[in-house]
Amino acid sequence: MWHGRFKHDTAKIVQDFTQSLDIDWRMYEADIQGSIAHVKMLGKTGLLSPDEAAKIESGLHQVLAEIQEGRFTPSVSLEDVHMNIESRLTEIEPLGAKLHTARSRNDQVATTTRLYLRSRLQSLSNDLHELLSVLVDNAQRHVNVIIPGYTHMQQAQPISMGHYWLSWFEAFRRDEDRLKFALSSMTDCPLGAGALAGTTLPIDRGMTSELLGFSRPTRNSLASVASRGYMLDYHHFASTFMIHISRLCTDLITWNSQEFAFIVLPDEFCTGSSMMPQKKNPDVLELARGKTGQVIGNMIDLLVNMKGLPMTYNRDLQEDKRGLWSSLDTVEAVIRVITALLAKVDVDEEKALAGFGKGYSLATDIAEFLVMKGTPFREAHAIVGRLVAWCIERDMAFADLTPEQWREHGIDESVMEILSVRESVKRRDVYGGTGFAQVEKQIADARERL
Ligand code: ARG
Repeated sequence: MWHGRFKHDTAKIVQDFTQSLDIDWRMYEADIQGSIAHVKMLGKTGLLSPDEAAKIESGLHQVLAEIQEGRFTPSVSLEDVHMNIESRLTEIEPLGAKLHTARSRNDQVATTTRLYLRSRLQSLSNDLHELLSVLVDNAQRHVNVIIPGYTHMQQAQPISMGHYWLSWFEAFRRDEDRLKFALSSMTDCPLGAGALAGTTLPIDRGMTSELLGFSRPTRNSLASVASRGYMLDYHHFASTFMIHISRLCTDLITWNSQEFAFIVLPDEFCTGSSMMPQKKNPDVLELARGKTGQVIGNMIDLLVNMKGLPMTYNRDLQEDKRGLWSSLDTVEAVIRVITALLAKVDVDEEKALAGFGKGYSLATDIAEFLVMKGTPFREAHAIVGRLVAWCIERDMAFADLTPEQWREHGIDESVMEILSVRESVKRRDVYGGTGFAQVEKQIADARERL
């Protein structure tokens, strides 16, 4: 088949090396969908008679059924999913020899991949939506739960745990935009671009584009077969998403440690140690974090692949899908398992409060108290700084100070009324801040945006 200018078959070692069946077989359904649209179009423009088109279409349906029922085994000697399907079609229906009229595998690969990727991204988008709604639910569950907030892993200020969950809501909401952007870079249909320059045959690109649910045909046939920018857009989403996941996992892993113990992970999501019976390991979180490198690596892989490629299609591009699948499968699995885990995470409020210790996380509150009394902030900062040093030397908490000791430090003892973590959170009543009332508003706002 397809011998043409060659006197010899491709060597077996070359077939094995050049085949892409192991990567592209999973797109068989999208490929057949594309071929059906193509054949309908050929029937409409007169390149095939209506009867020929109908026969080829029904042959394609039969190939699809055979694959779905496990009755057809593709062969690497036919290189890829596209040739395997065409070859099987032609065995069933000799008119299959007309299917590839006005089409190249270059525009076919581009079309099939977009169709496949589009449907995977639509499904990912649903999964992501689920993650977002679990984060809002968690925010609601934990609005009134207080934990220490950190910068530099130093106790900074008390925050509402609900506020913490919403910080991830914001990050993943932006990821949703990136995912939508990736989808929006796949709205044009490359079918009809041919090998690179279009075709002399009378085709209707608008028709195939519409049949396949694209918005319009691609505008430039060269770019149609050369471009993988839409994959990079997906990789950008995936890498950013995984970085967010990874950081979230690090927080939860830290808070699951005996030293912090702020959170309680569901037993079903943890594993034991084969040697140390006391352990409850956060393996799911560690693995999600650990898989991040692969997803970033897949993006780098494609960037490097494309870097020096001339216009237009080059066989290097056949390698574009390996990392794409790896990344899609990883992101999908990670979203689903992390969403399920998050829905069951609990906070140990007492331990979280105990975590404040003598952490002096109310120091800013005292400085701001002085500011309200008219002290310039820099001065207030220095006063409270000296107070903290004084307390550390004596191993005292702010709460241990007597009214005289407050006054000795130049601070009115009425400051004691505001010196609780609950009061501190409540009083951060600024737009976007951690104040309970603000967090409630942010939750309502988040629900609306969902
Ligand atoms: N298996 C190839 C791929 O997936 C099909 C395209 C081949 N095109 C070509 N000009 N050899 O990219």
